[in-house]
Parts: sequence; structure tokens; C-alpha cells
Amino acid sequence: MKQRKIREDVFLLGAVDWDRRLFDALIPLPDGTSYNAYLIRGREKTALVDSVDPSQTGVLMRQLEEVDRVDYVISHHAEQDHSGAIPAVLTRYPDARVIATPQAKGMLTDLLPIGQDKFVTVADGETLTLGGKTLEFVHTPWVHWPETMCTYLREDRILFSCDFFGSHLATTDLYARDEARVAEAAKRYYAEIMMPFRKVIQRNLDKIEGRPLDLIAPSHGPIYDRPTWIIEAYRDWVADAVRNAAVVAYVSMHGSTEAMVRYLVDSLAERGVEVHQFSLPVTDLGRLAIALVDAATLVLGAPTVLAGPHPHAFLAAALANALRPKLRYASLVGSYGWSTRAAEQVVGMLPNLKVEILSPVLCQGYPRDRDFLALAGLAEAILQKHRSIGLGEGSI
Ligand code: FEO
Repeated sequence: MKQRKIREDVFLLGAVDWDRRLFDALIPLPDGTSYNAYLIRGREKTALVDSVDPSQTGVLMRQLEEVDRVDYVISHHAEQDHSGAIPAVLTRYPDARVIATPQAKGMLTDLLPIGQDKFVTVADGETLTLGGKTLEFVHTPWVHWPETMCTYLREDRILFSCDFFGSHLATTDLYARDEARVAEAAKRYYAEIMMPFRKVIQRNLDKIEGRPLDLIAPSHGPIYDRPTWIIEAYRDWVADAVRNAAVVAYVSMHGSTEAMVRYLVDSLAERGVEVHQFSLPVTDLGRLAIALVDAATLVLGAPTVLAGPHPHAFLAAALANALRPKLRYASLVGSYGWSTRAAEQVVGMLPNLKVEILSPVLCQGYPRDRDFLALAGLAEAILQKHRSIGLGEGSI
């Protein structure tokens, strides 16, 4: 990719990583990703905003071949997909200084070979002029590490937001043209990366909305030239409200738990509860995370293996606990052979979730009439709980 002009003396650099399919050895990337860097040329000084993943260092350095000087490298976030090429940039521009929050300075020196003397730390609200281009540094912690910040370019009303508002999307679109596709990718990104910090993000949204915005330029995915819709989407995702929806995530070994899940899903659907069903051994964990963004209830389906829940259910419980979705209720269904401690173990894995546990339905062997009756009872309990918080009114 060559430099792309987005405003006078403001350029998009970076790399589109079309073929990457996994991030953090965990997160699926069905649509690849990009690592966006930006170049801002003032009358006196030039700043590079973030860099790229180490695997794409060569792409960035080729883009910089025509750039005689870089005075500042603004590092919004220490994670290596944005900071990894900074050492190479500093080798090419030895007089450049890295602009970062005080906490980012510590993390960058922990993660990368960058000397302490290379840094200039900036306070929240501090400004730097490049000559006709005024940069305001806005501390926005926990999007999604503690050291993160954004930069607001006053004259062009651009917010450089790094991971905040980002989307893992490989595209040649400079701007978010296919808004439905970008919204899906941005929601996936929020669910996987940002959701644990929902409350802090509410405050960060208040902070950035005080500024007039023409563009939001993240470090993954396309630029937003209609910033309002992505801000409104974030407002919706971080709000406390939940929907009349249940996520049913299950694993089955010999069909018993699957039969229970099918019955429960049908029972919920008959009662007007929207259900998102996932087979854990084959599901895209990103889709599961998206469904958790605003569902009211999570039901795990797990057969018992060696007295505890199947390991796939352990993983799903650990994921839900770590992502801290705004769930209100949770339960467990599953089959066991001779004894089980699955319920205690699953509940014990959800300490971060402020959920009420609805009575699990566990059956010995293949489910019989009494078990299906219990599953219908669980579906009814879920409906009544949803109604008690103002959801699902009018459903049968
Ligand atoms: Fe895109 Fe947190 O790095």
C-alpha cells in the first residue's frame, strides 16, 4: 500500500494484512485486519502516528522512503501491532522522539528495545504544534490497555483513536463505505477487545464527544468520515440495557446434551425469547462474543467429563467471565453418566459476572420426559426473569 492522502498534509500509511486469521493466538480474524499509521506534516515538524505490526515493518519503511524527516512518533498504545516497528523508525530517524503517556513509556521500554532518552511523555490535554497542525493528546485509558490515549488534530478535526473504534477488516476502502460490514466488524472488535472495560469506555466517549469531529481515524480498519454512527454504536454497546435474548453455547459428545439444548432453544423461541445457539467445538468465538454484547441470559450446555464440565464449556465460561458482558442471568444444562459436579464448577468460573444463576437442568443419560419438563421450566423461568426487567412484554 502507498501513502494515501486523507486531508492536506495528513496521510494514511500502514499495511493491510489480508491473510492473517488469528490474533493473540486466540481471536479469529475472518476478514483479516490492517495496521494503520498516519503521517502529519506541519510547517515545522512532522509526526508519525503509531506504526505497524512487526511482520509489516518493511511495508512501513518503504512508505517512509520519501519522508526526509520524522520529528515525533506518537505511540498511542504499547501493544506490538502498533508499536512493533517503532525501533526501525527510530533507527531511520535517530533524532525523533516518541510521544506517549507516562504509563506507555514504561510499557514500551518493557516490550521493545527503545531507550528511555527517546521519550517525551504527555499529560492529558497537553498540546503540541507541528506548525499549522495542533495535536491535543487525550488520555483514554483502557481502550484496551491502561496506557492508551488518542490524539486530536484540531485544524482538521480528526481523532486518531488507535484500537478505540477499530475493526479487524482488510479492505482497500479508505473510508467506511459499507457501513453494515464495518459495523459488524467493529462490534466483533468491541466484543472481543473492549467489552471488559465497558464502564471506562462510557467515560472515554464523553471525553472525546466534547470535540468537533470530521474523521475518526483508527489503527485497524477503515476511517470513519461519518463519526456519529460509530460513536452511537459504541454508546449502544456500552449502555446498561440488555435485550430479550439468550445465548446458548454448548458441546455434546453422544447427543444427550444436544437433545436438551434443542428442546430448550425451541422452548425459548416459543416464548418469544431470541436465541443465539453456538456449538462450541466448531463455532467462531468472535460470533459468540458478539452475541454476548447485549444478551440478557447465557446458558451453557455441557456433558460431564470426569465429574466436571466438558473442557469446551470451561473455555466458554472462562471467556464469558473475562469479557464481562452485561448478562443478568446464567444457567447450565447437560447430561452426565454416573455423577457430576459440573454446576458448581461452572458457577465457580463466573465470579466477574453479576448474574443470577437460574437452576441448572442436569440429567443422567439421555433426557426423558421429566428432563424435558425441567427444560421447559427453565425456559419459562428465563422468560419471567426477562419480563421482570422489562423485556419480552407481549410475547406469548
Ligand atoms: Fe491493535 Fe491493542 O492492539
